[in-house]
Amino acid sequence: MTDPLHSELLALAQEAARRAGALLRDGRPADLAVARTKSSPIDVVTEMDIAAEKLITDLIAGHRPDDGFLGEEGASTEGTSGIRWVVDPLDGTVNYLYGLPTWSVSVAAEQDGERVVGVVAAPMRGETCHAVRGRGAWATGAWEGERRLACRPAPPFDQALVSTGFNYVTEVRTHQAEVAHRLIPLLRDIRRGGSAAVDLCDVAAGRLDGYYERGLHPWDLAAGDLIAREAGALTGGRPGLPPGHDLTVAAAPGVFEPLQQHLENLGAWHD
Ligand code: IPD
Ligand code: CA
Ligand code: CA
Repeated sequence: MTDPLHSELLALAQEAARRAGALLRDGRPADLAVARTKSSPIDVVTEMDIAAEKLITDLIAGHRPDDGFLGEEGASTEGTSGIRWVVDPLDGTVNYLYGLPTWSVSVAAEQDGERVVGVVAAPMRGETCHAVRGRGAWATGAWEGERRLACRPAPPFDQALVSTGFNYVTEVRTHQAEVAHRLIPLLRDIRRGGSAAVDLCDVAAGRLDGYYERGLHPWDLAAGDLIAREAGALTGGRPGLPPGHDLTVAAAPGVFEPLQQHLENLGAWHD
């Protein structure tokens, strides 16, 4: 049964992602500079990350003042309605800074701690993916209507195309490179797209067989995880655990299990 609250949250998430995506696409200054850094000198924030988060939180708070927020650029309120928004206003900031097209706006809504709505807008692809819990995952493109997403049937593991990402902290990314070095001979190939939310949508759309990364934050994965799951993918962390900071794995059934096991054997979550 369609829950009217979920439909309301979806419409608001889509509007917020659409407006923030347009701001980022059309408002990118030619001389875009780094405003500040976070976990390391290469973990950058631009004025556009901050402007996009403000647009999203202002829009949502204007419609639903009692909801909570968790935003990468600092939005953090408890709320009283049981709904919390988890927002990455610009996922793929380094790509955006350099003018590469793979970046996105990720907006998710949780109800009583459970993800119920996820929207990932990728304006330079002309595509927005969305999911509502129990209602499937969908993509809308600039040149086509709504299309239901389904992850790809699993190939043999050695023919799987798997994406990953590298952390901003040197020791972590060095360890991640060692894991990738051990994994790549077992796979068709590895990709590094630069936006975790887009990676998760690509698993949902069957453009990747799988994706894994260590060190993600809730805003990186909240919307994309729901989209991947609603498209039939399995998602998790280390065996038996949910996806999160230690490890996030998303893949088609048949690829997920061996990928998760290889990552466990390789110690992919380690400090
Ligand atoms: C980053 C991207 C990247 C991933 C990093 C994330 P940001 O998010 O999703 O693909 O590898 O772990 O931090 O900083 O561009 O929002
Ligand atoms: Ca991010
Ligand atoms: Ca971000």
